Amino acid sequence: MCGIIGYTGNNQAMPVIIKGLKTLEYRGYDSSGIALSDHKNFSVFKSEGKLENLIEKTKNLNNLSETGIGHTRWATHGKTNETNAHPHTSEDGMFTVVHNGIIENAEIIKEALESKGYRFISDTDTEVIPQLLSYHYDGNVPEAMRKTFSSLDGSFAVAILCRNEPGTIYAAKRQSPLVVGKGENENLLASDICALSEHAEVFSYLEDGEFAVIRKDSINFFDSSLKPIEKSFKKITTESSDNSKGNFEHYMLKEIFQQPEKIRNLLKDKIKNKKIFLNEIAELSLDITKAERLYIVACGSAYHAALAGKFAIEEMCRIPVEVDVASEFRYRNPPVSCNTPVIIISQSGETADSIAALRLANSRGAIVIGIVNVLPSTIANESDYVIATKAGREIAVATTKGYSTQVAALYMLALHIAGIKKTLTDKQLEFFTNELIEIPEKIEKILSDSDTIENISEKYKEKKELFFIGRNTDFAAAAEASLKLKEISYINSSAFAAGELKHGTIALIENNTPVVALCSNKQLLKKTLSNIEEAFSRGADILCVCKDKTFCNKNYKTIIIPDCTDIFTPLLEIIPMQLFAYYVAKKRGCDIDMPKNLAKSVTVE
Ligand code: M6R
Repeated sequence: MCGIIGYTGNNQAMPVIIKGLKTLEYRGYDSSGIALSDHKNFSVFKSEGKLENLIEKTKNLNNLSETGIGHTRWATHGKTNETNAHPHTSEDGMFTVVHNGIIENAEIIKEALESKGYRFISDTDTEVIPQLLSYHYDGNVPEAMRKTFSSLDGSFAVAILCRNEPGTIYAAKRQSPLVVGKGENENLLASDICALSEHAEVFSYLEDGEFAVIRKDSINFFDSSLKPIEKSFKKITTESSDNSKGNFEHYMLKEIFQQPEKIRNLLKDKIKNKKIFLNEIAELSLDITKAERLYIVACGSAYHAALAGKFAIEEMCRIPVEVDVASEFRYRNPPVSCNTPVIIISQSGETADSIAALRLANSRGAIVIGIVNVLPSTIANESDYVIATKAGREIAVATTKGYSTQVAALYMLALHIAGIKKTLTDKQLEFFTNELIEIPEKIEKILSDSDTIENISEKYKEKKELFFIGRNTDFAAAAEASLKLKEISYINSSAFAAGELKHGTIALIENNTPVVALCSNKQLLKKTLSNIEEAFSRGADILCVCKDKTFCNKNYKTIIIPDCTDIFTPLLEIIPMQLFAYYVAKKRGCDIDMPKNLAKSVTVE
């Protein structure tokens, strides 16, 4: 996580860096800082909390420096205070550094430097970088960098200022993303291209082990042994997105309401002869009908999207699907081979665990299909095939349109494979395709009744915990509903397969325990209703999300969603659940778009 940026050029650096940090704030927002290179000195400003605090602190400064670096932090080591905020400066004041990543051997290095008399002031892993640079420095910065970075374990994207070289930014990278942008009489670097697009037109991504030396009129690259290397710069047009909240109070609400349009847009061009066909994977270098198994690997909500996709692919394509969280998959020696394609799902395309899972799959010879929103991104670049989810920029940390477009993409993939494998008849394919086409309109219908959900949410604002239950596709949606609620409202919630309740969790149900039961899967309705009844008879306060309330006990509150084929229900039932989480969080006065402790893109493992 963390966002870093560096600027050197003919403009004042501070406003450019602050503006860049604003675009990078999704990567972490517990503190921020900036270092400006004055002649033979640095001016460093830091603030705890969101970037607004740093802006407030620096608003009356008229620092004319044309070179500087900036950082927005998601803490990995040490509390979220000003001392631990970046930039970190060596004790002798020679180097100041911003860092994204984790230095895994920081403690050992720190002890070694302390034994040589170095004093540390922060609790961060990052502080070892400027101190080590200063330890190795004898007038040659690249050489000090070579020695420093070869002794570090872990991940880093680093921008460095050296007091002796005002006007120069040094950069190094391993695992964490770093892109250099070339402008006219100004050059920059950042964790994400979106922070550079106002000042640069051509970009070059640093590879692991490479160094960059950036001045306003030159950019030079070196490999890890300091041999100069040529790197090409490419014109990359980033999606120009509307970054305003429009008429909505929060980005999350705006993004919830964008879902029909985004899913419609995703389906556009994919329908041929009343069937779904994905050109993106038309040339798949493996006969998909021969795949022994599919893996779907992801984190958080993307993992929940995978759960929904599993049901569709197994049902329609008759291929076994194994779904795994990336942080587990990468360390469990999965039996992946060239006959088991691996699908990696990621909104950001930069999630560290998902990238590691992708690389593991690649190293075993598996074909990797990335289902990704942000292009370009590491996961998109490294996947063999990419299905873009086209949700547009998602700003709220809690994903909504990112998730639903992932689910829709998986449904399209299922229909594409079923068409090739002929596991569905033409008539069935046409039926499911039509069902999918109708989803956006049905979402609009649910959204038009958001007031009802706002009213229902009122009484949940005081609750300490909630249970979400469901079977099969309903369980997939329940898992996502539970995550949505807890990440933005801070109410403890868990999701259970409804049939599992009686195996232990039911012990927690007492008078007025809130249970949200997702029971839209008509095939399993009776079974789920029995489980709901079991909870109700123990005092649970039940809210059902269903397609038809006639079967529900009249003591249950209900949210009715439009009818659709069972397999696609997660796409509909998640909508009222997103609204439910949103309104509960709002009524609790939570910071909805930037919940505490979170970041939009999780670039550390
Ligand atoms: O960018 P990714 O889709 O790879 O991110 C995965 C998770 O970090 C993400 O879905 C996270 O769980 C969201 N905050 C949930 O709203």
